[in-house]
Amino acid sequence: MKDILQELEERRATARLGGGQRRIDSQHGRGKLTARERIELLLDEDSFEEFDMFKSHRCTDFGMEKDKPAGDGVITGWGTINGRMVYVFSQDFTVFGGSLSETHAEKICKIQDMAVQNGAPIIGLNDSGGARIQEGVASLAGYAEVFQRNIMASGVVPQISVIMGPCAGGAVYSPAMTDFIFMVKDTSYMFVTGPDVVKTVTNEVVTAEELGGASTHTKKSSVADGAFENDVEALAEVRRLVDFLPLNNREKPPVRPFFDEPGRLEASLDTLIPENPNTPYDMKELITKIGDEGDFYEIQEDYAKNIITGFMRLEGQTVGVVANQPMVLAGCLDIDSSRKAARFVRFCDCFEIPILTLVDVPGFLPGTSQEYGGVIKHGAKLLFAYGEATVPKVTVITRKAYGGAYDVMASKHLRGDFNYAWPTAEIAVMGAKGATEIIHRADLGDAEKIAAHTADYEDRFANPFVAAERGFIDEVIQPRGTRKRVARAFASLRNKKLENPWKKHDNIPL
Ligand code: HXC
Repeated sequence: MKDILQELEERRATARLGGGQRRIDSQHGRGKLTARERIELLLDEDSFEEFDMFKSHRCTDFGMEKDKPAGDGVITGWGTINGRMVYVFSQDFTVFGGSLSETHAEKICKIQDMAVQNGAPIIGLNDSGGARIQEGVASLAGYAEVFQRNIMASGVVPQISVIMGPCAGGAVYSPAMTDFIFMVKDTSYMFVTGPDVVKTVTNEVVTAEELGGASTHTKKSSVADGAFENDVEALAEVRRLVDFLPLNNREKPPVRPFFDEPGRLEASLDTLIPENPNTPYDMKELITKIGDEGDFYEIQEDYAKNIITGFMRLEGQTVGVVANQPMVLAGCLDIDSSRKAARFVRFCDCFEIPILTLVDVPGFLPGTSQEYGGVIKHGAKLLFAYGEATVPKVTVITRKAYGGAYDVMASKHLRGDFNYAWPTAEIAVMGAKGATEIIHRADLGDAEKIAAHTADYEDRFANPFVAAERGFIDEVIQPRGTRKRVARAFASLRNKKLENPWKKHDNIPL
């Protein structure tokens, strides 16, 4: 018996070494943690339970039968984050470069299946040279099995991908189908074809970092939702994100203890809106003054900054925030901001996270690049996402809500539950100057007349009361009381039940 126990320990020790000390040292030398060290940082201490530690590949080509490391380049299992269960896989770059074989894929699929069955999020730590070259199509089949499960799990359990090394070729499509992708600066990259192929096909000379590094994907492509300095920071931030999310689509998000008075008044908000309607202000100030303890977890912080998306808590409960940012492009909606916000709204709706929308939007960005780029279809995504969402929706218009963008931004007409406006709100088809130039075109040569018409238009429409008289705005509120109003609104909506008509699925304009 003793021998058997000892053998188990020895086998475990060998498995824990992955591809061996030399390769572990090389991993550390690049500033990267090993697959096991990452799991330790991600999960609560001693909470990790491993599956398939001894599983090895079945490949017999290219002499592979002589090299069968236990675990086959991926560590899988479950554990807890602040006491709540998650499933995790962590690719081990020290074993065949973390490449995906048939058995490596089977290990991932097993935890995907368990996560869906048992209702817990899946977190994938990706660090892989892609398809196991020695296995050929068996490896491609393995990828597709993982993809199919990503799709089935979508909207059932939250799926989070962290890219912590290479992620290339078709391998990028598994993370791409998950809810959030985070990258580590300077040590991770994602691309469908690498720099060498790019050079051959398009003659472009580009580095891996430029082509698919964290900066590219958080600022240009929007493939990734956040970039962090190193492995440690990335894993700590994933823990923070998981705390906002429900375990699955049948559960509500967790309620955390809070140490902030729900009725807290913020007198400084009364002067947040500048005198001049064209002067920007920072919408993030409002967000942090509304949320519990000023905490805000921003998603896609570096992309389409004219709209802000992220999570806060109100009375300890998770709330998704979508807010126009007047500091960037005057807060207008365009292709990128519509796509960014639409995806966020749909995530919140999948997982029963109520949505707070803060509106200061002068309209959609005009121009050929927007029209040629399909702003009609992309803008419709956000409209569609808000309109189909059945979660509690509370909207506060702080200043401008013009034109189609007024409708889009969780207006009453898209089943907004509480639609508030500050006294500074201007709800109209367009700004006074533009409106005057159209409806009083005949007076365009007469500056005095135009000024008078503009003033007249401002008096009539540059306020929230026309909309409030029609019931499109439920109440005009004092800025200082916004946190209290919004918190009470969401509290009153905790038992909201709203169902869309039966359908196989909708046909959102993709
Ligand atoms: C088998 C692989 C491997 C792979 C790396 N290794 N990638 N083994 N299959 N795909 C092994 C190496 O042989 C090496 O083994 C170890 O992992 C570390 O690799 P290095 O090349 O020494 O590391 P580094 O210099 O850091 O380069 C990392 C890399 C490079 C950029 C990932 O290894 C690379 O380009 N690999 C091939 C990538 C690739 O073309 N994959 C297929 C993509 S197509 P030793 O024993 O020396 O430690 C694809 C299709 C998916 O993935 C389709 C899904 C639908």
